[in-house]
Amino acid sequence: MNIQRILFLRYSSVACFLVAISLLSGCSKQDPVSPTSVITPNPVGGGTPKLASPIPKTPPQIVYPSDNNPLDLTAEIELGRHLFFDKQLSVDGKVSCAGCHQPKSGFSDVSTFSRGMQGQMGSRNAPGLTNIAYNTIFTWDGRFPSLEKHAPGPIFNSVEMGNNFSVTQRDTTPSDYNSGPGPNDTLFLFARLDGTANLRSVHKADPNSKRVDINNVNYYTLMMKAWGTNVFSMDMIAKSIAAYERTFISTGSAFDQYNSGNENAISDDAKQGFQIFIDPMKGNCVSCHSGYNFTDQQFHNNGINGADGFVGNTTDIGRSTITKNKADNYKFKTPTLRNVALTGPWMHDGRFENDNSGGSAELSLESLIQRNYNRKTGPITGQDPLVRPLGLTGQEVAYVAEFLMTLTDYQFAKPATFTSPWSN
Ligand code: HEC
Ligand code: HEC
Repeated sequence: MNIQRILFLRYSSVACFLVAISLLSGCSKQDPVSPTSVITPNPVGGGTPKLASPIPKTPPQIVYPSDNNPLDLTAEIELGRHLFFDKQLSVDGKVSCAGCHQPKSGFSDVSTFSRGMQGQMGSRNAPGLTNIAYNTIFTWDGRFPSLEKHAPGPIFNSVEMGNNFSVTQRDTTPSDYNSGPGPNDTLFLFARLDGTANLRSVHKADPNSKRVDINNVNYYTLMMKAWGTNVFSMDMIAKSIAAYERTFISTGSAFDQYNSGNENAISDDAKQGFQIFIDPMKGNCVSCHSGYNFTDQQFHNNGINGADGFVGNTTDIGRSTITKNKADNYKFKTPTLRNVALTGPWMHDGRFENDNSGGSAELSLESLIQRNYNRKTGPITGQDPLVRPLGLTGQEVAYVAEFLMTLTDYQFAKPATFTSPWSN
């Protein structure tokens, strides 16, 4: 991902914002997806009609919150990168964001449940962060409305990075973390970042700090460049991490090339799989996995508690944890399917493992579709009516899995900015 593109996206989003004000239409919304696909005659085969792709060819605009306004965006992103890969963000100095969101796995975790501070185990699978810039609601149950609001979440979460050890003076919850100086956990965090873990009074980055990255750069330099100040604050940390996360852009999968008109970019089997995926009378997958990012950003019960081979796990009630509405029980946010071949284990609790036939993601995805979406057993209580018995043949299920494989962007994890700037 080059910075010019980010800047372009950023400035075009500003333009979009201005247009939006006059038109009263929000740019942050996902691209609209037509409810019924247009049927066009198949130009090649003649016989079977082909459904036109409802997936937009170009990505949506990235919307930056108006108060995330650094001195220098490139420098802010670089500061965010340093924070994202920095293990000193956790109390035991062992857990970075990247530890649970590994770039080569589409920024997801290959473990079912991620290990956080002092090896503690969470209860949800770390989702991939591909194209997270286009999302408007975050975590499986949607408890955060922006990347800025989300970033302190893991930092102060006791099983993730654990910066909430002092119960009497805690700045614990993401909504009321203390961004100013004071005798609290946040200050201890700043001190660790600046290389003086035993001091609990640091609120300014030291120009002479010996805690430097592989290029000999310390937080003082990074912060001055990005924000023009050396005063640490949680706001600065959250905004910089969010700006970095907005660079996790994927637009170059084989599917994208096909969707833009290159008929040779994917196999005929994958094309058939895509047709099944978008056909309301067949897979109907696109009714939820919609838009550029293959998610409607809504919450659904996709029936996983009735999936073949699983005893219903009903401890995590999903969206209703937030809404307190029983009708939202067991609903989870529709995940993106971009880079899905890299993000297993799948579903909010990682119950579908990538463990079939020596770890073939394609066979594992085939098994997921078969056991969850193409199963013979009827819908379970609360299951979304859009997930209905499909009656696909084994061959058709394999086509869909082959299509899902074309959503992998092999260039995605390549940029040097997706590697750690720290030596350990
Ligand atoms: C111990 C593992 C762990 C660490 C460390 C961690 N995460 Fe996560 N992350 C998760 C899990 C698990 C979820 C899903 C949480 C949920 O749905 O309740 C998640 C969710 C997210 C999401 C929401 C994704 C979506 O699609 O809604 C973002 C963004 C994210 N993490 C970014 C970060 C950042 C930035 C950091 C570092 C400040 C971080 N994570 C640290 C495990 C981790
Ligand atoms: C009613 C909406 C809905 C429909 C229709 C739907 N899905 Fe899903 N899908 C979801 C939700 C919600 C999840 C996450 C559920 C969870 O984690 O508990 C999900 C998860 C997935 C995952 C796992 C992704 C990951 O990163 O963990 C795959 C793969 C998937 N769906 C493929 C499909 C396919 C293929 C179809 C069509 C046969 C389909 N979905 C139809 C809502 C839907």
